[in-house]
Amino acid sequence: MTKLRAAITGVAGYVPEHVLTNEDLAKMVDTSDEWITSRTGIKERHILKTPGKATSDMGVEIVQRLLEKTNTQAEEIELLICATVTADMKFPDTANTILDKVGAKNGFGFDINAACSGFLYALTTGAKFVETGTYKKVIVVGVDMMSSIVDYTDRTTCVIFGDGGGAVMLEPNTENLGVIDSILKADGAGRHFLHLKAGGSLMPTSEETVKNRLHFAYQEGKPVFKAAVTGMTSTLRELMERNQLTNDTVEWIVPHQANMRIINSVSEMLDFPMEKIMVNIYKYGNTTAGTLPLCLSDYENQLKKGDDILLTAFGGGFTWGSIYIKWAYDGSQGSILNRN
Ligand code: ACO
Repeated sequence: MTKLRAAITGVAGYVPEHVLTNEDLAKMVDTSDEWITSRTGIKERHILKTPGKATSDMGVEIVQRLLEKTNTQAEEIELLICATVTADMKFPDTANTILDKVGAKNGFGFDINAACSGFLYALTTGAKFVETGTYKKVIVVGVDMMSSIVDYTDRTTCVIFGDGGGAVMLEPNTENLGVIDSILKADGAGRHFLHLKAGGSLMPTSEETVKNRLHFAYQEGKPVFKAAVTGMTSTLRELMERNQLTNDTVEWIVPHQANMRIINSVSEMLDFPMEKIMVNIYKYGNTTAGTLPLCLSDYENQLKKGDDILLTAFGGGFTWGSIYIKWAYDGSQGSILNRN
């Protein structure tokens, strides 16, 4: 019997208009363009500055672009999964807010919180709904407004993150195109190195938590860096081996955009050429759950039907993993990413 696959039939990306450059940051904290560029590869990032706007508003921009590109009516959406660590509110889920704002009256949705690996977790989950044959139009969004949880007095984190994200449409496919295989991992012991201390049930919001700046992302960069290289490389290796993929047959690796040095290390450890690794960190920084769909959106016009593509990410949790996709269409119509 032919296996039903979940094919990506469209991709869209969005970043807000305002650009925060390394030079801007050097006026805010003790840093320099030279340090940020050489240690991270980032030159600028986009920040959502419009008062009253939140993660769901970027999600709406993304989903509306996706609907337009895939010629889909909002009422046709059956399920929307939103990967994010910066939900509009602690509850309800941002996915539901996006569905409401785009007028998707017939769908249901939920959020997935797996930090920078969120899009991997959400894509794998969305694919399962399609593979059962029950759902025919599933949208997977990865989007974060990191500026809402970044401490712009902390030079070790504020230079890294940006706002933005993207989404893909998943539809059933019987030609063996789509999500083929995935490896997802987690190690909760890593939570100590990367987290947001206050505002949860462990440490509810109080005057004390606000005074001590505990509502911002906390990261110990070095252990995270090492675990990211190891985690991304090992899951890519395992995925390639068990699917008989080689450096020659894989068209693209799409890595989480956390640090250019992490991406270079993965390339070196796998002996995989940098020319086939998607990179856009220099213009967006780390958009957490947004990086993978933003890469697919930016590189869409270079993707061809049948391409073997590997997505990989590492993030807070710790969470990490890799996904093998056979690309389902010629993307030569080009990226629709613009900066309105
Ligand atoms: N400007 C100037 N100096 C700086 C800055 C800055 N912006 N930031 C740190 N420094 C200084 C430090 O204070 C330190 O100074 P010291 O030696 O006098 O103490 C020195 O630079 C080295 O600091 P390190 O933290 O060791 O720098 P490192 O090279 O490790 O780079 C970074 C830091 C960029 C955070 C890196 O460790 C990294 O990328 N880590 C992984 C990030 C990641 O993958 N996160 C996962 C995803 S995020 C998520 O899930 C939400």
